[in-house]
Amino acid sequence: MTTPNISILISEAEIKDRVQALAQEIARSMPGDLLVVALLRGSFVFAADLLRALHAAGARPQVDFMTVSSYGAGTTSSGTITVHRDLSEPIEGRNILLVDDILESGNTLHYAREEMRRRGAASVRIAVLLEKKGKLEQDVTADVTGFSIPDRFVVGYGLDHAGYWRELPFIGVVED
Ligand code: IMP
Ligand code: MG
Repeated sequence: MTTPNISILISEAEIKDRVQALAQEIARSMPGDLLVVALLRGSFVFAADLLRALHAAGARPQVDFMTVSSYGAGTTSSGTITVHRDLSEPIEGRNILLVDDILESGNTLHYAREEMRRRGAASVRIAVLLEKKGKLEQDVTADVTGFSIPDRFVVGYGLDHAGYWRELPFIGVVED
């Protein structure tokens, strides 16, 4: 089946190779205790593949999930972010790897990182699949990044447009 109105920006094969490389880097730089905190919903596909690649790279991660929501006028994310669905367990003393689909303004990851620190995490690192250059509004950088992309709205591999297209195995651009 084809999806004619979506053009491929990053292919399934490119993603697979890159996720393996990211996992090797994470396994090297974060040996020992590792709690992957996947930010829902957008990161669920990336997180699932990254976890299996971490296993292949020799790491023994645990995983937990958190949904944070930003509320604001219009389509741009505001700085006001709250925990919508929380982690299952305390994280005091843990080495956290925050995983998200994309770093754009940085509001989401800045909030999540500060929240992990406030709860007493021993360390907090950040892995993102995508990064849109030149859009940062917060002082936050990812420790590992899959791909830098231009300022286009992308879907697939967990990322949605109005709730659709998360299931696509590639990162694509919706053509209008
Ligand atoms: P930030 O808080 O501005 O960094 O926004 C990051 C969040 O915005 C991501 O977790 C996505 O849910 C969403 N987002 C940003 N850009 C895109 C895009 O191009 N496609 C789909 N979702 C996006
Ligand atoms: Mg998201």
